[in-house]
Amino acid sequence: MDRFIIHGGHPLRGDIVIGGAKNSALKLLVAGLLTPEKLVLDNVPRIADIRTMRRLLEQHGLTVEDISGDGGTLSIGGEITNTEAPYNIVSKMRASILVLGPLLARCGEARVSLPGGCAIGTRPVDLHLKALETLGAKITLENGYIHAEAPNGLKGERVILPFASVGATENLLMAATLARGRTEIVNAAREPEIGDLVGCLNAMGARITGIGTGKLVIDGVEGLHGARYRVMPDRIECGTYACAAAITGGELRLVGGQVEHLGAVVRALEEAGVEMVQEEGAVRVQRTGALRGVDIMTEPYPGFPTDMQAQFMALLSVAEGASMVTETIFENRFMHVPELNRMGARINVHGSSAIIRGVHSLSGAPVMATDLRASFSLIIAGLAAHGETILSRVYHLDRGYEAVERKLAQCGAHIERVSD
Ligand code: UD1
Repeated sequence: MDRFIIHGGHPLRGDIVIGGAKNSALKLLVAGLLTPEKLVLDNVPRIADIRTMRRLLEQHGLTVEDISGDGGTLSIGGEITNTEAPYNIVSKMRASILVLGPLLARCGEARVSLPGGCAIGTRPVDLHLKALETLGAKITLENGYIHAEAPNGLKGERVILPFASVGATENLLMAATLARGRTEIVNAAREPEIGDLVGCLNAMGARITGIGTGKLVIDGVEGLHGARYRVMPDRIECGTYACAAAITGGELRLVGGQVEHLGAVVRALEEAGVEMVQEEGAVRVQRTGALRGVDIMTEPYPGFPTDMQAQFMALLSVAEGASMVTETIFENRFMHVPELNRMGARINVHGSSAIIRGVHSLSGAPVMATDLRASFSLIIAGLAAHGETILSRVYHLDRGYEAVERKLAQCGAHIERVSD
């Protein structure tokens, strides 16, 4: 297992290229199940979750080719020969549940392992299942698997989601592209990655309107065709490096980043004393003065993203005054707090809120993380801390961040990966 060794106190300066969005690329790969023709995706991030999704699609019978030779452009094509998504892959990566809708729509049947809980919460999939049932799927749960059938195809309906779930919106959206008639998704998630999925599906011949609104309208078509599509830049990676630049008092150009996707993160950073400016092809980020405490609450887009909560909390741990961070999306997403406290932060958790009393400085320590974003919050803390931070369980980071140590080191961070 790899570890990172970080020596803090070096301001980050320079350019960091923002990769393709993990949370979009995973779904765009799944969209390849909706057509036997080739779907070519550019700007695919080189991360472990994408490799896991490739394996999942390949075991369904599809061929995934690395056209560029470096993992950045993939082509997906071929016939589906197996409609089962096995436990050993789904339990590793929850986004695997997204094959359910497309398999059902294409093959009239699918068996997908129930994902179970994860480090940040119980994360049920009831909304995915109810939505597909509304389109006429018959769903049974047996032996830890979801078995879905629609032998006569799916039929468009009006589906009102009780919560704007990202995954449920995406599963339903993909299934509805091949359903008979019109589907309306009311209270659909509005995350930019959903807009990217709609863009790709429409390029494949789907008829979807309502991008960026809470109501998506899908007119089912007979079949989808091949297309070439570029994955949007990763807004969470962009926000993460913005926090890293800010805590070190440096200045970064986040190449390919787009401020418009960051919404509430930009406002929160500004309030904390960090400026983010959109320039041509890049976002420039720098601190304008001392860091100030800010209150934030995670919410569905365009609210503050839960995927930025841990990184922002690391920044707030050294801001002047007190801050309150309230997590409304996942019930157990403060696993980074005890680790940040071991580095000298003063954070107390009360239910779904954390009170952060800013400290003057952090000190390096051996720490370990339980999930992807929590891991990066400890890197951010380590970049500002005095002394040495040793971060274990780097595999969490490798799931979703491309070349972390290279991107940081080329901007002046003292960080190295060591293997046991
Ligand atoms: C996606 C993102 C994840 C992000 C999250 C919220 C991917 C691969 N993952 O996850 O990084 O943190 O959006 O922005 O894109 N819920 C239910 N029943 C359901 C579905 C969801 O109760 O059927 C609950 C979840 O437990 C959670 C909340 O709704 O508490 C949000 O989940 P959802 O928006 O579905 O997130 P994901 O799609 O799993």
